[in-house]
Amino acid sequence: MNFPQKLNVLELSWPTDWLPIFGRERPLILEIGFGRGAFLRHLAQTYPEHNVIGIEISNRCLTHVESMIAREGLTNARAIYAMAETALHHMFTPASLAQVYVNFPDPWFRTKHSHRRLMQRDTLDVIVNRLQPGGSFYLATDILEYAEMSHELLAETPGLDNQLATPWAGELPGRIVTKYESKARREGRDCYYFAYRRNQQTPPPAAVIQELPMPHLVFQSSIALDDVAARFEPYQTQPVEGTYVHFMRVWHSEHHLLFETHVKEPTIEQRFALTLSARADSQFTLQLSTLGHPRPTEGIHMAVKLLGDWLLALDPDARVVIRKLQEDA
Ligand SMILES: C[S@@+](CC[C@H](N)C(=O)[O-])C[C@H]1O[C@@H](n2cnc3c(N)ncnc32)[C@H](O)[C@@H]1O
Repeated sequence: MNFPQKLNVLELSWPTDWLPIFGRERPLILEIGFGRGAFLRHLAQTYPEHNVIGIEISNRCLTHVESMIAREGLTNARAIYAMAETALHHMFTPASLAQVYVNFPDPWFRTKHSHRRLMQRDTLDVIVNRLQPGGSFYLATDILEYAEMSHELLAETPGLDNQLATPWAGELPGRIVTKYESKARREGRDCYYFAYRRNQQTPPPAAVIQELPMPHLVFQSSIALDDVAARFEPYQTQPVEGTYVHFMRVWHSEHHLLFETHVKEPTIEQRFALTLSARADSQFTLQLSTLGHPRPTEGIHMAVKLLGDWLLALDPDARVVIRKLQEDA
């Protein structure tokens, strides 16, 4: 089969244009966390007139499912490396999904890890925003506490109507058994299935996060790269509205410094490098290195601004020559 493999949310357009990826426009189905991919295959086979998108963060699962898609000729299915939160905010537009499936999400039992749970207010709101009216949302779990917590959340979601007479069902006709589900059943655990439909109510607002231009700073300064490297100390900002920047360490070569940086934003987390290059006439360029395909987000612009301000402060006579940052747009 001839279609791009190794799809990664950081390399796709935001929002994503699905026509070149599938070669056709069709209603979209999304499965979040497809694991070994049995359910993704089932969706692709059950809905040949839909385009089926599976997202995962496990590379082993991705490699396995990419091979399965190619081997079995599932032309209407694609596997994409993406965190659910990144995919939902960056890849999809409002009312663009016909169906969303979450099968056996990781429970993250401990309170201090609860922010990682998939079923939480912000993520459910963006799912509702991305579902088209009449679209379906399905959830399955084998953990009673997770089912109860999900029921409370779903019951407080005006954009979704329960399709069952009870909060959940012990089985749903037409489903196939996923790998995780068969393990749960083998080990004697019950499973809980939810089926909801998107109604006509106005969805919660959820911005589609678009591509930003590349950040870029050129300045004149009498600093020397050796001196900058010697004065660098790791630094992490306090989180503000779920965003923080962490400058971790600096790497030195003859004409460049590479600042290893980690930026956490509510919808995306990236580890990347900022490059400081010495040019002629005591000029320096600070920009995003292409290492690891970072994507210029607001958080990355914030990192360039913070590092740029620190570099400028090292020389009282430093002068900005070019400054292309989001705050200046
Ligand atoms: C318990 S397993 C269930 C796998 C599969 N759905 C099944 O039923 O066999 C949860 C899966 O979700 C994936 N996952 C966890 N957090 C995720 C996230 N934020 N975005 C996408 N996938 C995620 C994990 O890598 C794992 O494969």
